[in-house]
Amino acid sequence: MSARRIDWVSAPAGPLRGELRVPGDKSISHRAIMLAALAEGASRIAGFLEGEDTRATARAFAQMGVRIEAPADGERVVHGVGLHGLCAPADAIDCGNAGTAMRLLTGLLCAQRFDSRLTGDASLSRRPMRRVIEPLTRMGAQIDAEPGDVPPLRIHGGRALRGIAYESPVASAQVKSAVLLAGLYADGETSVREPQPTRDYTESMLAAFGWPVTYAPGLARLTGGHRLHATELRVPADFSSAAFFLVAATIVPGSELVLREVGMNPRRTGLLEALRAMGADIRVENPRGAGAFAVADLVVRHAPLAGSDVPAELVPDMIDEFPILFVAAAAAKGMTRIRGAAELRVKESDRIAVMANGLRALGVRVEETPDGASIEGGAIDGGEVDAAGDHRCAMSFAVAGAIARDPVRIRDCANVATSFPGFVELANGCGFALS
Ligand code: S3P
Repeated sequence: MSARRIDWVSAPAGPLRGELRVPGDKSISHRAIMLAALAEGASRIAGFLEGEDTRATARAFAQMGVRIEAPADGERVVHGVGLHGLCAPADAIDCGNAGTAMRLLTGLLCAQRFDSRLTGDASLSRRPMRRVIEPLTRMGAQIDAEPGDVPPLRIHGGRALRGIAYESPVASAQVKSAVLLAGLYADGETSVREPQPTRDYTESMLAAFGWPVTYAPGLARLTGGHRLHATELRVPADFSSAAFFLVAATIVPGSELVLREVGMNPRRTGLLEALRAMGADIRVENPRGAGAFAVADLVVRHAPLAGSDVPAELVPDMIDEFPILFVAAAAAKGMTRIRGAAELRVKESDRIAVMANGLRALGVRVEETPDGASIEGGAIDGGEVDAAGDHRCAMSFAVAGAIARDPVRIRDCANVATSFPGFVELANGCGFALS
């Protein structure tokens, strides 16, 4: 977590207007650095997210001897060292707030010749790692964690890995990716079957770097022993960052925003479906690209929302969008019910509790369940809320402030820099009153 303590005040806003491009996709930026580092040759990445999380990943590979140049903001040239070219890091690798960095690196590092240690901030140090340790151990890895299977992790090198057919009990792209990345080094075939399909970026990006992968929603397979080849890629704008503006323009009367080059992978865009079922007016224009690199421009206009039940099948496709969905629900007429989303309790914060407590402090009726919440829409009052160091909760409360009767004071917002540097400036540029 950032040492700085930042609080925001979000005051009622007028109509939101303009065209914007939110920063690069976090999940793709992490993977771009990782795969480029292990490829042969120099890869060029454009649209890289200059966030604390993705910079932590770049730093990790620099610690392991990979030369990474930053010729301009959002650009990286990664001089890949090949699958077996990483060097032992002299110190522990600090993943900061980034669960994706820690879980994916665990998969990669358990296959190296050297030992390594992964640490994180207070939030990451509470997050469950059993979910990756268990399958990786079955592949032959040796990983020690703190009691309760939380970080820091000590990863023993020099272990020969074997492929497994893994039936994951949890719908998690991080778990799937950790196993697949270990599978690059394993003897034989590694496969992962998921209870519900999750984002397929690791699969499609491995393919972009020339590794043969077979995948369809819910199942991915690869064999060890191939090579990754340097490539050029352009990271789309992050749908999860666009989501704050999609909801803000929907709920602030008179608004119209255009969001450019937004990542449109179907495993990420579940919020569009959920918002449309509530009455949102969002148009998808100029769809282009494919796989991890599918993008479109989104045009969103103010529309009155009605509460609805979010289908449980949609949960993995909008797993990072529940904080902002809570705000859409609070602004809607009637009741919104969320179920089947217990994973929200083990994100950067317990997002069900943080959003329920915050909205209640603003006069909204919210009832928590173990795996979701029921939110009764209506007026949002001003007041004070705690984002609990969670970037997405902080930005969601900022959106709530835009339609509140009085200003909303939001505590503990510094971690917005993990995923969305420049949020305040971009938001104020289109009509927010955020300070
Ligand atoms: C991510 C997967 C999701 C998501 C996270 C990024 C990824 O986590 O919430 O923000 O890049 O693979 P889980 O795998 O825990 O669902």
